[in-house]
Amino acid sequence: MATINIALLLLCMALCLVEAKQTKTNMVFYMHDWHSGTDTTAIPVAGVKNKPWNTIQFGTLASAQVGRAHGVYVNSALDGSDLHLVLSLVFTSKEHNGSTLEIQGADRLFQEYREVSVVSGTGKFRFARGYATLETAFLDFKIADASIRWNLTVLHY
Ligand SMILES: *[C@@H]1O[C@H](CO)[C@@H](O)[C@H](O)[C@H]1NC(C)=O
Ligand SMILES: *[C@@H]1O[C@H](CO)[C@@H](O)[C@H](O)[C@H]1NC(C)=O
Repeated sequence: MATINIALLLLCMALCLVEAKQTKTNMVFYMHDWHSGTDTTAIPVAGVKNKPWNTIQFGTLASAQVGRAHGVYVNSALDGSDLHLVLSLVFTSKEHNGSTLEIQGADRLFQEYREVSVVSGTGKFRFARGYATLETAFLDFKIADASIRWNLTVLHY
């Protein structure tokens, strides 16, 4: 029994040491999603027959560009109010160059704030988990151009 207890204690110590090295990163950025003009960042790839193929969100993370979003979103509500996001945020800025974060969640786009999960990551963000709140900063519904403010918090090693 004693050896098992010691083994568990050692395991706990090892886990606690790993736990202590975990860091928290917060970042705020804007995701631009242009469906019109010459800088298109998103195109609908499937839709409902005889209905406009409108999608919102997906594209370049910009201003001073920090990265790009690669992935898909599927409009998963009959009234068009809910997008299912599955994205990789691929960072190109100096600080996080080459690292990625995997995003998954429901984007109820008519809500002022909505929250999606950060389910994993690579590079600097290995073992990442966290969440991001999304807020629409700009939306032209007719042409589906949008700018979304992301406030993302992750724990990683
Ligand atoms: C990011 O990494 C790529 C490939 O290693 C490199 O070509 C590029 O210059 C780097 N960008 C920055 C901003 O460090
Ligand atoms: C980002 O969200 C966190 C909560 O998750 C909040 O404490 C922080 O003030 C927000 N930052 C900005 C710049 O909005």
